[in-house]
Amino acid sequence: MARVGETREQAGSSEHPPARDDLEEIELSLLLEGVFRKYGFDFREYAPASLRRRVWRRVYAEGVSTISALQDRLLHDPACMERLLLDLSINVTAMYRDPSFYVAFREKVVPLLRTYPFTRIWVAGCSTGEEVYSLAILLHEEDVYDRTRIYATDINEAVLERARTGVFPLEKMREYTQNYIKAGGKRAFSEYYVAKYDGAQFGRSLIENVVFAQHNLVSDRSFNEFNVIMCRNVMIYFDRTLQERVHRLFFDSLMTFGVLGLGHKESIRFSPHEDSFEELDPIERLYKKVR
Ligand SMILES: C[S@@+](CC[C@H](N)C(=O)[O-])C[C@H]1O[C@@H](n2cnc3c(N)ncnc32)[C@H](O)[C@@H]1O
Repeated sequence: MARVGETREQAGSSEHPPARDDLEEIELSLLLEGVFRKYGFDFREYAPASLRRRVWRRVYAEGVSTISALQDRLLHDPACMERLLLDLSINVTAMYRDPSFYVAFREKVVPLLRTYPFTRIWVAGCSTGEEVYSLAILLHEEDVYDRTRIYATDINEAVLERARTGVFPLEKMREYTQNYIKAGGKRAFSEYYVAKYDGAQFGRSLIENVVFAQHNLVSDRSFNEFNVIMCRNVMIYFDRTLQERVHRLFFDSLMTFGVLGLGHKESIRFSPHEDSFEELDPIERLYKKVR
């Protein structure tokens, strides 16, 4: 709590938000309500601690001193909303993040994909696309890419724009090469990109069958029926109610015997849809919809 005579912004800093108080709770919930009603982005049930930190970071970055002042700016200035969106959607990602997930995908999911003449894969919360390019390379190497369509979505149009370019930092290539090898990659990783200034430009053929589109997991509906849905490291930021809503969306969007792939810290266990899924690989959080 700010001391008497001390304003909130004096009590806090760009690194640390001020101590929590009742007024702040009211301001935060009004801001989230306003954002939802004006722009349709629903962050009302996001995990509060991280949400609060990010909102305060935006308060300081905009040079205002309260959450209410930020709300005023947000409602009147869509560019400010874009900036908050970037703060709220944590976009950290990597190529072949958790290489063992891709090993399991190759061994346990690809054989299922081979049994269909055509398959649809939804990569939800794809951020800047590293995961999508990783998957596309894997599917190429397994000779199933030509009969696959990948729908790669994210709430944030700015990250999708970057994903479409297929350019990733050159300095990351050493780490990504290691990941690719651990993930069971079959060729030389450098065959897939060319160095361009300080970026690595990945081949356009990798996204020939990829559709990048904005989609909000919280408020948008299912838009197809999929053989596989991958949604890794997105729901860790959601509270239980929101997770259950997204589980329901995935359940509705998966065909029978379709596969759901989650992040290492995420699970379908203890959700109302648990019984509809069998564990295909419990460690790698791969689940098969069986009913
Ligand atoms: C930490 S990144 C994970 C990226 C990638 N899946 C991975 O595991 O490397 C989380 C992504 O989820 C997106 N996201 C957050 N809330 C979302 C929502 N409600 N609907 C769709 N995407 C969302 C963010 O914009 C961000 O790009």
